[in-house]
Amino acid sequence: MSSESYHEPLELLSEATRNLHRAIVSLCEELQAVDWYHQRAEASSDDELRAVITHNENEEIEHAMMNLEWIRRHSSVFDANIKKYLGSTGSIIAVESAARGEASGASASLGVGLGIGSLRGSK
Ligand SMILES: [Fe+2]
Repeated sequence: MSSESYHEPLELLSEATRNLHRAIVSLCEELQAVDWYHQRAEASSDDELRAVITHNENEEIEHAMMNLEWIRRHSSVFDANIKKYLGSTGSIIAVESAARGEASGASASLGVGLGIGSLRGSK
């Protein structure tokens, strides 16, 4: 995935949306690296090489979570869903059922710039 693979003409996109795109692409790249390192470590026939690759995999997980935290801070819908699902226990599907009746943020268009995380003025 290219780091600047915008789906819409750039002139139609706000700086907040461009930054969210950058963060989402970065998260995807970090998770892809985790997947590749994990497979590579498992396939390695050398214990020390496997340890090095696993170390790198774990660092990519940290990078991915740093990206996700940036996204959470800049999108109220990501924030609400992260708070709803991450760290929950029991059936993940049941978490949604239990939350029915609460206001859904789905119509807030990722919540970028709404409430938390306005990027206005940031470059
Ligand atoms: Fe990374």
